[in-house]
Amino acid sequence: MKTIIEPFRIKSVEPIRMTTPQQRARLLELAHHNPFFLHADDVVIDLLTDSGTAAMSAKQWAAIMQGDESYAGSPSFARFEAAVRNLMPFSHVIPTHQGRAAEAILFHLLGGPGRIVPSNTHFDTTRGNIEATGAEAVDLVIAEGRDPARLHPFKGNMDLDRLAALLAERGDAVPCVMLTVTNNAGGGQPVSLANIRAVAELAHRHGKPFFIDGCRFAENAWFIKQREPGQHDRSVVEIVRDMFAVADGMTMSAKKDAFANIGGWLALDDDELAARARTRLIQTEGFPTYGGLAGRDLDAIAQGLAEIVDEDYLAYRIRTNEYIGEKLLALGIPIVRPTGGHAVFVDARAWLPHIPPLAYPGQSLVCALYLRGGIRACEIGTVMFGRHPDGSETPAAMDLVRLAMPRRVYTQSHADYVVETFAEIAAHKDALPGYRITWEPPAMRHFTARFAPLA
Ligand code: F0G
Repeated sequence: MKTIIEPFRIKSVEPIRMTTPQQRARLLELAHHNPFFLHADDVVIDLLTDSGTAAMSAKQWAAIMQGDESYAGSPSFARFEAAVRNLMPFSHVIPTHQGRAAEAILFHLLGGPGRIVPSNTHFDTTRGNIEATGAEAVDLVIAEGRDPARLHPFKGNMDLDRLAALLAERGDAVPCVMLTVTNNAGGGQPVSLANIRAVAELAHRHGKPFFIDGCRFAENAWFIKQREPGQHDRSVVEIVRDMFAVADGMTMSAKKDAFANIGGWLALDDDELAARARTRLIQTEGFPTYGGLAGRDLDAIAQGLAEIVDEDYLAYRIRTNEYIGEKLLALGIPIVRPTGGHAVFVDARAWLPHIPPLAYPGQSLVCALYLRGGIRACEIGTVMFGRHPDGSETPAAMDLVRLAMPRRVYTQSHADYVVETFAEIAAHKDALPGYRITWEPPAMRHFTARFAPLA
């Protein structure tokens, strides 16, 4: 069959509250033209993030009822640990309340002034946790990964020459090498198995541990199966095991590829480092068999990990974004190509050339999507990255808008509605206004900045 259906039936539903354009104009004004301030029930389709927004399965809800809330030695932890180690066979699995808590513990141990941590592209919380220790976070993605229009099957790959040069020149300062799969900040682009292995080999040759930020590991494995020579006839589970077999540890947000609404973990092989991580965990998260989570959350994650590697699910998952991407391209709307695993990234700077970067074309598109269709998306551009610690402001490398797809939440007609909203915006896109910021906080301004449209 040509039609790739949602491979599930819907057993429980949440109503969407419909709004009119007039209501939305008023609501957006009250939100200072920043959709982060909108009430979620004033949003028709919420594409702000794919993190923690998944629909759990009937089996996950059933698993929740089995959650054991013992402070120590809970059987929920045993099920969680076994589910993680079935896919990622690390010696130590340390639960955390979400991904950034795992990062904070890891870099509390490995960071510090003068240290340098390379990755393909660090996610903002990873970078934030590295920089908070005084260390430097360096992004070494291949050149193709920085060009939205350039096609490449693995745009998330690490630039091996630049990594080799960094390790040769400043290796003493590097405590570990990281790799984010898929590369969220670079458009949800995958990393090939060959690249993962080559990065591990380079790191190990210099005596450095290699950690994977595994947030979207199943989507990455699906792309490997589809695109990497020799991988097509292998199962996603086998590919996942191969991805992690060459790593010394991982950080994880279970809010992505574990179908959980909360949770994460730090996993690693080094006994001494694991002992120090658990000590820090007890200070900041909780006892090592619950780590900031309820026992029921650990059970939801364990069941979610069994479901996320389902290949019918992954085929539908990746196709959803590809489908939206194809239709946007047909409307002449520039996007990051090929479409990523968890999101479609629209190149707002290229699509709205009449709005200069410092008048925030991404923010303008984000506002238009809400006004026209009640869709909430996220600017990833000059609003997010343009303000510097010295107070200066410069255009970001790109002005993108991310349409992040929650897992198992929306159907094809929701996708068609998103496309139709874009078609309506396209008809009058040259009239979209730029924006100015009327108030901003000292850091991470995109969450709480206030905006006004330019006349
Ligand atoms: N690493 C990556 C690649 C991520 O995308 C995220 C979160 C994290 C780490 C942190 O995990 O949220 O559980 O603490 N990304 C979300 C997003 C917030 O919208 O892309 P967390």
